[in-house]
Amino acid sequence: MCGIVGYIGNQKASPILINGLLRLEYRGYDSAGISTIEKNGLSIMKDKGRVKNLYNLEGIDNLTGTIGIAHTRWATHGKPSQENSHPHMDNSKTFSVVHNGIIENYHELRNFLTEKGYTFYSQTDTEVIPNLVHYYYNKDEKNDDLKFLRAVKNACSDLKGSYAIEIICKNHPNCMIVTRKDSPLVIGKGENENYISSDIPAILSFTKNFYLLDDFEFAILTTNSVDFYNKNLEHIQKETKSIEWNAASAEKDGYEDFMLKEIYEQPTAIRETIGAKFNDSSKCEFDELNFTKEYLSSLNKIYFIACGTAMHAGLVGKNIMEKLCKIPTEVDVASEFRYRDPLVDNKTLCIFISQSGETADTIAALKLCKEKGAKTLAVSNVIGSSITREADYSIYTHAGPEIAVASTKAYTSQVVLVAILAIYFAQILELDNKQINDLKKDIIELPKKIEETLKISENVKGFSKKIYQEKDVFFLGRGVDEAVAKEGSLKLKEISYIHSESYPAGELKHGPIALIENGITVVSIITEKHLVEKMISNIQEVITRGAKTLVITNQNVDENMFDMTIKIPETNSFISPILSIIPLQLLSYYISKEKGLDVDKPRNLAKSVTVE
Ligand code: G6P
Repeated sequence: MCGIVGYIGNQKASPILINGLLRLEYRGYDSAGISTIEKNGLSIMKDKGRVKNLYNLEGIDNLTGTIGIAHTRWATHGKPSQENSHPHMDNSKTFSVVHNGIIENYHELRNFLTEKGYTFYSQTDTEVIPNLVHYYYNKDEKNDDLKFLRAVKNACSDLKGSYAIEIICKNHPNCMIVTRKDSPLVIGKGENENYISSDIPAILSFTKNFYLLDDFEFAILTTNSVDFYNKNLEHIQKETKSIEWNAASAEKDGYEDFMLKEIYEQPTAIRETIGAKFNDSSKCEFDELNFTKEYLSSLNKIYFIACGTAMHAGLVGKNIMEKLCKIPTEVDVASEFRYRDPLVDNKTLCIFISQSGETADTIAALKLCKEKGAKTLAVSNVIGSSITREADYSIYTHAGPEIAVASTKAYTSQVVLVAILAIYFAQILELDNKQINDLKKDIIELPKKIEETLKISENVKGFSKKIYQEKDVFFLGRGVDEAVAKEGSLKLKEISYIHSESYPAGELKHGPIALIENGITVVSIITEKHLVEKMISNIQEVITRGAKTLVITNQNVDENMFDMTIKIPETNSFISPILSIIPLQLLSYYISKEKGLDVDKPRNLAKSVTVE
């Protein structure tokens, strides 16, 4: 899940490349590097650690090349070090390459190339690529315009695994070649300049017009042109797509961190995601969908498949789909689902939730469901992302770019969109009108209630000061609140490095209560009316054993019982997770700040996980 950037035009490439990398750092930050074509050939500057280290490299300011490639790394093969940093060159220093993905057969290719006399200087899988390109380039006796492209194509035919590759060559100083398979890459079209990036936000300040490359396609970029070729090297045409996000939405905008900004953007993200879906008629419509009563009635189940926080949105979705639409619903993490030989057929609707639309396991699970004959629906935040191009149907959250590694506004937008999807299904199925109308009304009121919740939740700052040095925190909930407990616990782990566990409160007595001792913090969520008493009993059990308690609730509870209570606005229990998660997002944020950690870029994590 590394990040790659490329530039070709009339400006000095290096500052543009470094600027792009800084914006892509959330994809990995183990090392960074750039390669440009200078008057005397290819130059490479790279080092381990953060992108900003590049500014300290000797000679970086002297680069004048107007074409270059760049990389920020999340280490897979080979530890973070200078020699394992990208870009990598071939032995003759003719080709320079950056790569995001994993070359699964690199051992085999390394042996092949070693036998041909090539030497390897890093432990990476990537280093086989420039050498393989060099091998095919030298073998090719034709000296026409497409010689470089043929060499790249032949090398890629030998690669197994996933890749988004940028490659430049000192013999062809006026062009850059890019290609991809199962790893993201977008091409930004400018005026007399063109850009490459793993994600749109990194180059949003330069252009809003993008080309999307499909698997096994190639593009040759020059200052004034982008030419596309399919896997047989036949010339193909592509149209640009425009993106509505503005450049400011990818900036911190006065906030200390992206995460805090994104938490506070939730009223807008939810408002935008609801959009015009309930505006005019009494029926809620999705232009992109055409489900019929016959099809929905024939379903044996709905599957939500996703990873990380997106999977937690699926857990909330299950509650809504089963209770509102009466369709049996399962939720699975993509990396398990795909190896489970899942029971999926043409009577299963598989819904894939992915903020980025690029998560490798989620994409693989989607392909599997298609093979098994199921209809597939993507819920994503990124128009044109891989998952939306693979799925039969796609619907979009409108959360805007989410930069912080820990997901906040994307999660709540996913939950609201799935709730709206459930309303759409329930209407087609002609189910309980009152339940549908009540939920609709509560969804419309959500943005205001999120604003209120944000104000109230500021109070967790004080509690964070009391617990930031703790080693373990427990999160409890029942029903839909258990899904929120899971998400709250994940947020805390991700950005504060405090060990946390989430448990269905009723399961406590079957094991975890053994870990509760004096001073341990237990966070509980109570939004389901019929479960209040049961929750209170479970919390009482931990208080008896000396636990410090924080309770997030919209119910009438005796606040004197707990160390702290955050009283959030009441809403429909289908969508209460959108409100109850907010104090937990802020709690994790403040604990992380109290510990002096990098909130936006937690260690070992990356935002977009494009490896399996
Ligand atoms: C990573 C991110 C999480 C995210 C998950 C799934 O682990 O750190 O924030 O929830 O990937 O990402 P997706 O883009 O598929 O929603």
